[in-house]
Amino acid sequence: MDLPATNHATPIAIVGADGQLGQHLCKLLGGIAIGLGRGALDISDRTRVQSTMQRIRPRLIINAAAYTNVDRAETEPEKCRSINVEGVANLASACRNIDCPFVHLSTDYVFGGDALRTRPYREDAPPHPVNVYGKSKLEGEIAARQWPKTLIIRTCGLYGPISRTGRASNFAEAMASLATRRETVRVVDDQECTPTYIPHLSTAILKLVEAQQYGIYHVTNSGSCTWCDFAGEIFNLLQSDTKVRRVSSVAYGASAMRPHYSVLDNRKYETQIGAAMPTWRDALREWRQACRGNA
Ligand SMILES: NC(=O)c1ccc[n+]([C@@H]2O[C@H](COP(=O)([O-])OP(=O)(O)OC[C@H]3O[C@@H](n4cnc5c(N)ncnc54)[C@H](OP(=O)(O)O)[C@@H]3O)[C@@H](O)[C@H]2O)c1
Repeated sequence: MDLPATNHATPIAIVGADGQLGQHLCKLLGGIAIGLGRGALDISDRTRVQSTMQRIRPRLIINAAAYTNVDRAETEPEKCRSINVEGVANLASACRNIDCPFVHLSTDYVFGGDALRTRPYREDAPPHPVNVYGKSKLEGEIAARQWPKTLIIRTCGLYGPISRTGRASNFAEAMASLATRRETVRVVDDQECTPTYIPHLSTAILKLVEAQQYGIYHVTNSGSCTWCDFAGEIFNLLQSDTKVRRVSSVAYGASAMRPHYSVLDNRKYETQIGAAMPTWRDALREWRQACRGNA
């Protein structure tokens, strides 16, 4: 893959390298990636961010680090902000100092305030987050855009074949684990979005980088579903007898409010790259195959 800059000895820095997406990007990029997990680089430490990037002088920084616990963010807004806003500002500033392109990941949760919405959001739709995490990610986008060579990719509901801890780190893994243990599982049926398979997102990120794109892009698998539909499809694929019990978000009782509709419109990406994103159903089938391969 012909990634930007000049010298193939110059690495691509993946920040948040121990997370779901960070791990996959490191695997995909192989020897040209320098993976920086939280232990190697805490992005909220401005001085460390500057000195680390001055030393590495990467040709590209991809930020896969974030505070991602949507419910806990409601009670830890300062901690969430120190990572999702100040941490991002630190990375953007380091990119400016070494004149390096920056890729930052954001979320469908920058939307959600439009209670009547039923049409996918394009990149220029006015954001309106409904929870602390979404607000922090929106502020993070603003911080990232202080550096003009920034590509912001909004995505949704990530899951992949790699489990970083052995415990379920995403919805698909959680359902797969419950499929062997439970007769029924309660799942919310009033949040529509597009869960996205990390290998598909990772490839799309690198295609946008290769095309030297900056600004905001929406990248998810295509189509949309509720978490109920998604869970049902997982149980089908796993040939599990576990049944989905539909519940409303209110009855489910999560701490953070979530959008009832946060489907992202991928058309800008698809026009730029000339290819459609795989559907969420096809993505799930690939996930199933990859999990079989890993077993
Ligand atoms: N997961 C989703 O469904 C989803 C949906 C839409 C958008 N996104 C966005 O996509 C990106 C990647 O998400 P993901 O699912 O891969 O997240 P993840 O698995 O939770 O990984 C995030 C990583 O960031 C690290 N981190 C947290 N604070 C840090 C700090 N101060 N300095 C350095 N690293 C820090 C975490 O380390 P610890 O584990 O040690 O805390 C973790 O390894 C994020 O920007 C997220 O907001 C995710």
